[in-house]
Amino acid sequence: MQIRDNVSLKPFNTFGIDAMARYFLPITNHQSLITLQSLITNHQSLILGGGSNLLFTRDFDGLVIHNQLKGMEVVRTTAEHVWVKVAAGEVWHAFVEYCLEHDFAGVENLALIPGYVGASPMQNIGAYGVEVKEVIEEVEAWHLREGYSRTFSNEECGFGYRESVFKRELKGIFLITSVTFRLNKVPLYHLEYGAIRQELERMGVVEPTIRSVADAVIRIRQSKLPDPRKIGNAGSFFKNPEVPSAQYESLKALYPELPGYPQASGRVKLAAGWLIEKAGWKGVHRGEAGVHDKQALVLVNLGNATGKEIWQLSEEILRSVQQQFGVLLEREVNIV
Ligand code: FAD
Ligand code: EPU
Repeated sequence: MQIRDNVSLKPFNTFGIDAMARYFLPITNHQSLITLQSLITNHQSLILGGGSNLLFTRDFDGLVIHNQLKGMEVVRTTAEHVWVKVAAGEVWHAFVEYCLEHDFAGVENLALIPGYVGASPMQNIGAYGVEVKEVIEEVEAWHLREGYSRTFSNEECGFGYRESVFKRELKGIFLITSVTFRLNKVPLYHLEYGAIRQELERMGVVEPTIRSVADAVIRIRQSKLPDPRKIGNAGSFFKNPEVPSAQYESLKALYPELPGYPQASGRVKLAAGWLIEKAGWKGVHRGEAGVHDKQALVLVNLGNATGKEIWQLSEEILRSVQQQFGVLLEREVNIV
């Protein structure tokens, strides 16, 4: 095991924040997990995947554990399904590509989401009408302090919208080591997100395939989300808030064009990007921290912004949206 001292985290987070880690340890195999147990008792620790859903507001005066566990294998097949076990350090989109190549359906709508497979259950990643919980069979995780492995069934993961037990009560306690996905041999297309149908039409696709759906998703994403290699960001900074239907109706009376998505619970999900844009924030900069000019839900680092400056901007946005609409936004990004 190679522990490094005083490592810059700039290459390890898509916001491009120049924070330092006191100690940095790559985890490449089971043995390093066992050894980790003795180190962890003396230090606070942080599990790091692709760093695409993190904002460093300070240096990290502890041990950063960089998950680099690799491997993908088919563990079971039936006439309808195939189960693929994927190590947590695999890049998410590489796994999506693997599924497209092998005609395994279920993750095509989740193409091009940055980050690693191990973080996908963490906030139940979702896009274009699909959430990863729909294809997760089980999650294997390592108890960092007590040094044992536990398998969580789909139900035990407690998935919700951008939520799971790993983001709540078990945060930092279990390191997810692998995820087993149950994929479909016969695709069940999710094209209800209007933009996908329109994009498929634009591409001249008459009969969709999982590849063409993934391509449509990729094209839509590239048209509005900033590429972290060019502009630092962590995707949506806030969650889309849910409000009681009465509150939605009174807001709708004031703002007839307000988008709203009724939920099974009876509440209505609002588009945080719309609220932030309407409050006048789209394209606004505070020094080098800014709000993306094509998607107001995405905060960006336009150069050398600090994590604190981005945090401060998010505070201003929170307050202004609450003042104008009476809606309290919640951050989606993990703040360190
Ligand atoms: P990290 O940022 O490294 O970690 C995120 C959190 O998970 C941290 O709290 C970390 O401690 C914890 N963690 C990481 N790995 C593990 C592990 N193995 N075990 C336990 N805890 C762990 N998300 C969506 O849901 N949908 C989108 O459409 C989407 N689009 C995005 C677009 C862009 C341009 C960007 C930059 C981000 C986007 N995201 C989206 C957010 C992000 O890609 C996902 O949340 C992704 O799953 C984060 O993976 P990561 O490996 O980078 O996690
Ligand atoms: N909108 C605006 N102005 C904006 C941005 C959005 O008016 O600046 C409106 C759009 O016109 C649309 C609505 O808001 O009516 C929704 O916008 P969009 O389809 O772009 O999606 P989103 O709600 O902003 C969510 C996820 C994304 C995911 C997309 C596609 C959350 C917090 N975000 O964004 O996930 O890719 O839907 O499914 O749920 C992420 O989690 O990091 C992420 C990027």
